[in-house]
Amino acid sequence: DWNPGNVIADQVAAIQAQVGSGRVICGLSGGVDSAVAAALVHKAVGDQLVCVFVDHGLLRQDERRQVEEDYVKSTGVRLVTVDAREQFISALAGVSDPEQKRKIIGREFIRTFEQAQADLIAEAAADGDPIRFLVQGTLYPDVVESGGGSGTANIKSHHNVGGLPEDLQFELVEPLRALFKDEVRAIGRQLGLPDEIVSRQPFPGPGLGIRIVGEVTAERLELLRQADAIVRAELTAAGLDAEIWQCPVVLLADVRSVGVQGDGRTYGHPIVLRPVSSEDAMTADWTRLPYDVLARISNRITNEVSGVNRVVLDVTSKPPGTIEWE
Ligand code: XMP
Repeated sequence: DWNPGNVIADQVAAIQAQVGSGRVICGLSGGVDSAVAAALVHKAVGDQLVCVFVDHGLLRQDERRQVEEDYVKSTGVRLVTVDAREQFISALAGVSDPEQKRKIIGREFIRTFEQAQADLIAEAAADGDPIRFLVQGTLYPDVVESGGGSGTANIKSHHNVGGLPEDLQFELVEPLRALFKDEVRAIGRQLGLPDEIVSRQPFPGPGLGIRIVGEVTAERLELLRQADAIVRAELTAAGLDAEIWQCPVVLLADVRSVGVQGDGRTYGHPIVLRPVSSEDAMTADWTRLPYDVLARISNRITNEVSGVNRVVLDVTSKPPGTIEWE
């Protein structure tokens, strides 16, 4: 019988055998895979592990705190946070094209992670004990996908936080390679990780940067963060999390429409709700959310988020629409 306790015991032993007394580094994204992988490695080798979390400013509300406080408290891992918000915003200035944005975010992410890595490596080497291992939260479906050589077209240039440069000088530690997502979640729960992280719905590596149609600015990010937090809170309160695969919230920053609020005319931006139901994100259907939940979300966003005067619902399946708008 499959049992998270056994998998944890097996993986801890395997990690100890692979790593010995070596030092290990892991990039945390805020997502479940890297969080569980790092927690397993920490259980196996303790403070031989150091984790790096890059705040690129494209995170959702409260995500950084969840990693820095809740995750660190529940695991005891040593964490280095790199605040790269300024760097990402300047790199994205003036850019509206989705693929351009993805490339810039991916590039800046690798740059930032490598810099942090270099600092930690220098520090470790100074005490004569270099970092030789890198943890990756690779799951079984990722292994199959990348090894399968299926020749599927690259529709969007996907990038995962922790995505690797080519000239890698590390040996990889991949404790989740034989596991599926639901098994990873079960292990995370068994390890006592925060539920916000373990139960988190998929969120793309480029974050809110690809949920602003138009240029990414600090003001727009803040606005989208507020709208996204309202949507998540209301969906959770309505008990709909299990039914929804994920619900991107998109800001149409290049679109404005006329509205009326109080005594005045407004000229604001629309927010798009994109709730989808799916098994694996390869195909998806739009989730038939209850009207009263939609009404509550719409009222709250238009009342609480200044600059937004309209909320619209995306009723497109995948295909032909992708889940994300960019
Ligand atoms: P699409 O938009 O292609 O998304 O239908 C399919 C799934 O992948 C997620 N997604 C990403 N995940 N890095 C990621 O780690 C990315 O660059 C990325 N782009 C999309 C998306 O949220 C959905 O779950």
